[in-house]
Amino acid sequence: MAGSVPPAPEFGETLPVEASPETVAFLARRRSASAMSLAAPGPDAAQLADILRLAVRVPDHGKLAPWRFIVIEGPAKDAFAARVAALADSQANPAKANAALRKLNNPPVAVAVISRHLPGEIPEWEQRQSAAAVCHQMLLAASALGWGANWITDWYSYDPRALDILGCGPDEKVAGFLYLGTATEQPQERQRPDATSLTSRWSPN
Ligand SMILES: Cc1cc2nc3c(=O)[nH]c(=O)nc-3n(C[C@H](O)[C@H](O)[C@H](O)COP(=O)(O)O)c2cc1C
Repeated sequence: MAGSVPPAPEFGETLPVEASPETVAFLARRRSASAMSLAAPGPDAAQLADILRLAVRVPDHGKLAPWRFIVIEGPAKDAFAARVAALADSQANPAKANAALRKLNNPPVAVAVISRHLPGEIPEWEQRQSAAAVCHQMLLAASALGWGANWITDWYSYDPRALDILGCGPDEKVAGFLYLGTATEQPQERQRPDATSLTSRWSPN
């Protein structure tokens, strides 16, 4: 996989705002890899630590870090998947719920991004949005390092029994499962919305 990650800047270090053509080129073409295409190897512990260090460099109103990570890999992932699978037949659409489990079973590494809601003046909405930013930053960081990555929720992000199995607390939600591995198929461009048609200019009247 691609290169090493630079060390974290020192606290207070000047970080110039400057153009990054390589980042622009990456953003213009990046795609998630299908979870079904993710095979071993996935990132090892050190590589995952780098990905997570990059993922937490997101806007976070109040500097609350209203998120945490649960890494699910190896035999523990098999055990987690088996316990979740036992809930599939009780979903509204058991066939669909069982089929969705393939995306959980297949990739070698899963990181559950847990959104927390911490008490105080920062609205819950903003704390949840910061968790979504972490998910996307992880997707970008992993992809930029050459890993296949996909952000999935599926029913087991919402079923309270699955959240119990995962170890979520009462105020915690799953922002997403980030599936990581080696992409065995190259993704193709998908349809994209036209940003212009979604944009208006506010005017006073
Ligand atoms: C919050 C969230 C949850 C998602 N959950 C699922 C899911 O459960 N199943 C699925 O097939 N795709 C899901 N997706 C979409 C995948 O991430 C999809 O592969 C992605 O949108 C591909 O777009 P990209 O190539 O631009 O990243 C989800 C996306 C988001 C933002």
